[in-house]
Amino acid sequence: MSEQARKTAEALEYLTGFGNEHSSEAVPGALPIGRNSPQRAPLGLYAEQLSGSAFTEPRTHNRRSWLYRIRPSAAHPPFTRIDNGALRSAPFTESVADPNRLRWNPLPDPAPGTDFLAGLWTLGGNGDAAQRAGMAIHLYAANADMTDRVFSDSDGELLIVPERGGLLLHTELGLLAARPGDMALIPRGVRFRVELLDADARGYICENYGQPFELPNLGPIGANGLAAARDFQAPVAAYEDIERPTEVINKFCGNLWSATYDHSPLDVVAWHGSHVPYVYDMRRFNVLGSISYDHPDPSIFTVLTSPSDTPGLAGVDFVVFAPRWLVGEDTFRPPYFHRNVMSEYMGLIEGAYDAKAEGFVPGGGSLHNMMSAHGPDHETFERASAAELKPQKIDDGLAFMFETRWPITATAQAAGADHLQRGYDDVWQGLQRHFRA
Ligand SMILES: [Fe+2]
Repeated sequence: MSEQARKTAEALEYLTGFGNEHSSEAVPGALPIGRNSPQRAPLGLYAEQLSGSAFTEPRTHNRRSWLYRIRPSAAHPPFTRIDNGALRSAPFTESVADPNRLRWNPLPDPAPGTDFLAGLWTLGGNGDAAQRAGMAIHLYAANADMTDRVFSDSDGELLIVPERGGLLLHTELGLLAARPGDMALIPRGVRFRVELLDADARGYICENYGQPFELPNLGPIGANGLAAARDFQAPVAAYEDIERPTEVINKFCGNLWSATYDHSPLDVVAWHGSHVPYVYDMRRFNVLGSISYDHPDPSIFTVLTSPSDTPGLAGVDFVVFAPRWLVGEDTFRPPYFHRNVMSEYMGLIEGAYDAKAEGFVPGGGSLHNMMSAHGPDHETFERASAAELKPQKIDDGLAFMFETRWPITATAQAAGADHLQRGYDDVWQGLQRHFRA
């Protein structure tokens, strides 16, 4: 967490737009024009295509980037297995899926010297990493920079939601800064290392094994609304020309593998394409809702969706509960009681969430699995049922949800954690009988 990192983060420039065919060069003339793989790439660079989708997928889903780098990625020694630490992957077979509503306090602070990778801790997930279907929920807590080591995830893309402390993400395609209130995405296979912008860092990660996240269709909403494509920021090319041993750690089919290169593989001088990391400021989300009565289903708050083979059924949705006005007449305004075929993991970045008066804290999280009954707690229900329905601004918190089509199985470490809140069911105790025939 150096002053230099902070200055670098402040000065970053970005390319804007979601899913664009971006291009960038850190050295003028490094990017070939008119072809991808000339007989000799400019400036003595090696050309390499990084494919995030099958070659033949439709254009709307196709993701690939061409990288022009100092050394080809192929030049590396063998990878060998290393300990997975607290990282787990689907299929999650070490414990059974639990229909109970679960809630956790934040992770305990990590030991000194814990970097982003060492600080990953898996809460649970679903699907199968090797089948490229499903997702995992990880938390991270770090207090040290990743120095002379980089990480890549062959199993999926990483949607990172900082809750405490900023991150400077050094990726193959350039640098991104992600602070609380932002979300960052590292595509499948893109190597990166994490430098901290503050003394420590904590947050959430959705590892998406399935189709890459995309913007949801807007239907009758029209051409604008929710997350705007122009607010997604991709890095400009930046490279490291470092010739000293660098450990490259790859997550592959659930396990960590390590190889020590004799140079930094973050050596891409120019690139173009659509398989790119990006950062998005969730405070820019255009929140839509009812201006008459009731409120829409929370799908109206979807930032990004990973589609499945069934139209409208997401492998995982990333949903944000951002500041907004509530104006519904004759309406119970907090989230309603419900039981959902989808499974919901919620986290809190700051403040409070309007369905839970207390106990749901920044850095913590709740899991409401398939068909589990949930909704406002007793105190919230009583307050909202009696509230005067004048226009009300909800502006004291920023919460999010990973909503997924399959039940989430908690890992053994999450199911048995000291920071699991025993007695979470109690928040729905005290809901009085009001029925009068
Ligand atoms: Fe829910």
